[in-house]
Amino acid sequence: MRTHYNSELDEKDINKEVVLCGWANSYRDHGGVIFIDLRDKSGLIQLVCDPADSKSAHEVATHVRDEFVLKAIGKVRLRGEGLENPKLKTGKIEIVVDELIIENKSEPLPFVINDDSVNEEIKLKYRYLDLRKPNSYETFKLRSKVSMSIRNTLDKLGFLEVETPILTKSTPEGARDYLVPSRIHNGEFFALPQSPQLFKQLLMISGFDRYFQIAKCFRDEDLRADRQPEFTQVDIELSFCDQEDVIKVGEEVLKSAFSACGFEISTPFNRISYRDAMEKYGSDKPDLRYDLAMVEVMDLFVDSTNEIFASIAKNSHQNRIKALKVPDGDNFFSRKMIKELESFVTKFGAKGLGYFQMKEDGLKGPLLKFMSKSAVNELIQRCELKVGDMVFFGAGDKKVVLDYMGRLRIEIAKRMNLIDENRFEFVWVVDFPMFEIDQGTIKALHHPFTMPKELDKGSVEEIESIAYDIVLNGVELGGGSMRIHKLEIQKEIFKLLGISEKEANEKFEFLLDALKFGAPPHGGIAFGLDRLVMLLTKNSSIRDVIAFPKTQRAQCLLTKAPSAVDNEQLKELNIRIREPKKL
Ligand code: AMO
Repeated sequence: MRTHYNSELDEKDINKEVVLCGWANSYRDHGGVIFIDLRDKSGLIQLVCDPADSKSAHEVATHVRDEFVLKAIGKVRLRGEGLENPKLKTGKIEIVVDELIIENKSEPLPFVINDDSVNEEIKLKYRYLDLRKPNSYETFKLRSKVSMSIRNTLDKLGFLEVETPILTKSTPEGARDYLVPSRIHNGEFFALPQSPQLFKQLLMISGFDRYFQIAKCFRDEDLRADRQPEFTQVDIELSFCDQEDVIKVGEEVLKSAFSACGFEISTPFNRISYRDAMEKYGSDKPDLRYDLAMVEVMDLFVDSTNEIFASIAKNSHQNRIKALKVPDGDNFFSRKMIKELESFVTKFGAKGLGYFQMKEDGLKGPLLKFMSKSAVNELIQRCELKVGDMVFFGAGDKKVVLDYMGRLRIEIAKRMNLIDENRFEFVWVVDFPMFEIDQGTIKALHHPFTMPKELDKGSVEEIESIAYDIVLNGVELGGGSMRIHKLEIQKEIFKLLGISEKEANEKFEFLLDALKFGAPPHGGIAFGLDRLVMLLTKNSSIRDVIAFPKTQRAQCLLTKAPSAVDNEQLKELNIRIREPKKL
């Protein structure tokens, strides 16, 4: 129907006959001449409907309203002097319309497109209208480019794209499963995959050697700005490799994705061990766009005259005392702000927030009286304190202190405007522990198919795994590991996790079977595509880069899913709802 998209036209097309299609973005009647801004996916262009040029086009234009669907046939002309619109790509030209066709009408929209003050719920209910805003198309264009370049890169590296089942069995990635009842097998359920983890391992056992998939994953977990119940992974697996091979492929993939969006990033990325990340930044996904780091000062408090600090300092296994140096902090933070920071950390379990200020005449602060002179001097040296700096202290249980001090670090960076939004700071976090103890139970920190480094350690907490995460600007962009390819090790890990032989057989018989038939050494990684695109487009929520996202309460407001189903359907599935929802 059309000869061009709006933004393809410019001054070189003057006098060209064109046919354009799109929506009436806005409409102005200037004393008989009607101006319409026509919008298509590429942008806006001005249509001029002047009765002196075409009576019929002008007549039709009088009926046009916002968001009507139009087809305009006309000629490109230079706008008159002083009438140019520098904000538009096509601002130097306009279309003198000869024939105007209304392809469809539109009722007034429920909200003004591109109005940031509109309530998110309304926008999600009419998501297709919200997507009409000009930068939405750009976001999805970029998302498409990123997927395309990742596909091409992996294809060049010899990876085969294989689809794995959606109706399947539970793959433990730490979340709850979405379940689908089976009609044919009454009382039985499929689980939607939390990731293609086990199928990609099976493909390695099949000898496919290099697999990838841009895969939909489903996790029923608490949602946050960077979590959706349904999301997309770039899932990768390779055989006869080690951690270095996977990391290299991962870096190639990210390089190509960024390059497709016009950003050249340099590899190899920095690395940090899980332990160092936790001790220095209080997080296994540190944002390294700014320098703030914690220093261990537990030893300086062992002889403190403050009993609480001294007793904390005496149990170095269980506790931590951390100093967070903030360059220029004393010049920046008022007493009121320090109080605010204190109430911020108490929300995360801190009992208070100690601090020192480096003044012209030496270190000042409430804790000073409890420390010896030599301890104070050592603190100044260790933190390399200069006049105007400030140090915040966290003391107590290791897990709690690292957590709230890590959050404090981020909060300070935000308040002091230390974050360079134009930087991409990648870091590989390596040497993860294999297990974590959560309320007394042992859990796999990644997933139970991760290869441990050595099993014969003093305690399970000391066992490390060959696992790695890639972190970008404080967001976990991807994670992977070398996998267990030996049956005995897999059985041993299940045992350590408290999974009985019976349970292991019920849940993973197919994997345990497959491991008997010549599984090659293998490993891989998966990137969160939504998170990647969110960071590339500098959006703050992954909802912005998913065409039809769910709300924080895991609902689709557009289709109203999830929803009740007919009794007939339930009967077929042999399911009875205990307390039917009142409709
Ligand atoms: P993991 O669970 O770390 O690893 O997931 C890999 C990446 O997927 C993204 N991600 C999510 N994105 C949006 N919403 C969610 N709910 C969500 N959950 C995860 C993150 C994360 O880093 N099978 C392993 C990978 C492997 O070992 O190869 C896995 O799924 O960016």
